[in-house]
Amino acid sequence: MKIFCGLCGYAAHELFLHMREVHGLTPQNYRERCPSAPMASEALIRYLRDNNVRITPEGPRKEVTLFGMTLMADLVPGRMVPPRQENYLLRSEIGRLITASLKDGENCLLVGPTGSGKSTLIEQIASRLNWPVVRVAASGGLTEADLVGEWTVQDGETKFNYGFLPQAMRMGAICLVDEADGMEPSVAFALHQVLEDGGRLVVLQNGAEIIEPHPAFRLVCTANTLGHGDDTGLYTGTRVLNAAFLDRFSSIITVGYVERKDEIEILSRLVPGCKANLVKKLVSAGDGVREARKNDQVFCTLSTRRLIDIARKSLQLGGLKQALEVALLSRLATEDRSVVEEIFQRHIGDVLEKEGSANAKK
Ligand SMILES: Nc1ncnc2c1ncn2[C@@H]1O[C@H](COP(=O)(O)OP(=O)(O)OP(=O)(O)O)[C@@H](O)[C@H]1O
Ligand SMILES: [Mg+2]
Repeated sequence: MKIFCGLCGYAAHELFLHMREVHGLTPQNYRERCPSAPMASEALIRYLRDNNVRITPEGPRKEVTLFGMTLMADLVPGRMVPPRQENYLLRSEIGRLITASLKDGENCLLVGPTGSGKSTLIEQIASRLNWPVVRVAASGGLTEADLVGEWTVQDGETKFNYGFLPQAMRMGAICLVDEADGMEPSVAFALHQVLEDGGRLVVLQNGAEIIEPHPAFRLVCTANTLGHGDDTGLYTGTRVLNAAFLDRFSSIITVGYVERKDEIEILSRLVPGCKANLVKKLVSAGDGVREARKNDQVFCTLSTRRLIDIARKSLQLGGLKQALEVALLSRLATEDRSVVEEIFQRHIGDVLEKEGSANAKK
């Protein structure tokens, strides 16, 4: 039999997630307000006993082993937990660094080129730990009001609308701030407070209200440049991050493009219809472009994301030539285009030729 929330009457087998997500309360807060109300049904308590689930101050938690580390996780994925992608390749070396940092309550910054897997790796680690993620892009006009909150008028009444940061702090989520190197300085300063030890947020706009972080709250930022501005010219609109901001991250983790064998594995898993031979050739061509970038022969780079799109498009459109055009070549500057075309010609020229003669026969 289910139990009922003493505050709103919601029926469930356990109220830990409900308390956190709907009422913003810890189990202790709830017990203080409704001392005789149970937090879990008899049936659930029996299940917990049988499955060695541990009762912690944050509620019942299960042990999950990830990258050889044991962490406590919510029993079921609640609201805001990213969906698990079974075919995602969890990169063990970088995954271990991130997981160790999250486990120890640290905030971390992930730096690497576009499409190297920074944001999705955080999401996929979180999904395996049933950890909610509040994800925002810091560039493109994100303001302090979006971050912290602002007063609004609703139905003739003024109301303080909390921004994504206090919401993540209260629910114990990972706050994933993408494109941190595109952030306005005022937004970076607002984040400073929560990067300090203790990490409280003072919402001056709401009468200096103090938001205490939930023990599971973490701040993770991602960036394409190491906060020293962009010296590659690839990432327009990036800024020099304040040294004080950078200094507040316990870990700064570099996320480069995956190794060749892993990139082959990713393409094979995500685009299963693409022939193994073609996958290998596409990855070699990708390496070729990255090499050309290193040698200053081109201005562009080539992400895993682009390679996946080329492979997917080739199936969708029934041809590699068109796929290459729409997923890659059409977005390149003229000088880059000819070099990249030549690299691809070297690696997949035979496939393109076969395709051309098959089309001619039709
Ligand atoms: N390890 C992986 N396993 C499966 N897919 C991956 C992996 N790494 C990257 N990808 C694919 O590459 C795409 C880009 O990854 P992601 O968005 O995480 O990159 P990013 O580093 O955050 O890029 P940006 O700097 O542009 O935000 C993803 O949508 C995913 O399809
Ligand atoms: Mg990203």
